[in-house]
Amino acid sequence: MQKKLFEFGDLFWVPEFYHAFLRRFMGALYKIFGYHKLWLPELNAFVEKSGGKVLDPCAGSGYVDALLIKEMQQRDIKFYLSDFMIHKNPEFREHINSLGDPRIHYLEQSIDVLMDNPDFRCPKIFINAFHHFDDEQVAQICKLNLSHGDDILVLEYCDNAFVSYLSMLFGPLIAMILLPFITERRQLLITAVFTYLIPIVPVMLLWDGFVSNLRCYSHRSLKHIVYNAGFSSAEVKTTFRRSWLYPAGVTSHHIVAPPGAKKSNDSDDEV
Ligand SMILES: C[S@@+](CC[C@H](N)C(=O)[O-])C[C@H]1O[C@@H](n2cnc3c(N)ncnc32)[C@H](O)[C@@H]1O
Repeated sequence: MQKKLFEFGDLFWVPEFYHAFLRRFMGALYKIFGYHKLWLPELNAFVEKSGGKVLDPCAGSGYVDALLIKEMQQRDIKFYLSDFMIHKNPEFREHINSLGDPRIHYLEQSIDVLMDNPDFRCPKIFINAFHHFDDEQVAQICKLNLSHGDDILVLEYCDNAFVSYLSMLFGPLIAMILLPFITERRQLLITAVFTYLIPIVPVMLLWDGFVSNLRCYSHRSLKHIVYNAGFSSAEVKTTFRRSWLYPAGVTSHHIVAPPGAKKSNDSDDEV
């Protein structure tokens, strides 16, 4: 069962500068450590099986989606991005849509992935986002997608393992070094004050990192939830990969819709 712990990054009342800094910091980590590339074999296979069209409904800054799509050779693919809280940082959407890559588009609508969104039925990818949902919410996501034949790909860089906790310890230090280079100018002063003078941001980052590890789903726990959600014939394929630069490793869980479920591209529903 998933631990019932909160992350500051999920709380609406947490000041905006923290959310913005967290998203930019995560983006910088992908660029420095390149661990997103470890997901490519599973992502390529997933996109191919999906017929090219996928939705990342918890895209945040969308930065990692843009990095991933840059690495993908296929031309005939489309990543749709959305996020529950994107109204707080519309600049992320504007940035993605200004890239000029027809393979990636940030939607105007912010989709709540826990609700039924008939207009947005297609296979979904969750990048470092799935552990934010508790068991009941994961079951709900499975019901809303697997029953329509839409597979789910869960990509995580956190893990409930010793090396992952060790790597999270470096997070606040790296954040303090990167802050001047990644923070938007209008939020630089307040972020710097609450990082260097009153070090609340590093403590919040450390907490969020540790809680992410604790909340990450194992293959077994995910299989259990999928089964209990009524999908006894759905498959969960889990892969773990690590690199020298990122020894903590990354995980991919491909939740395959049960055979016989109605494919969303069999209907008129379109993203
Ligand atoms: C840790 S962030 C991951 C962002 C991005 N995928 C990345 O790797 O940088 C998780 C995101 O999930 C979004 N989110 C949380 N609950 C959601 C929901 N019910 N529907 C849609 N998005 C949600 C949050 O707004 C947040 O941006």
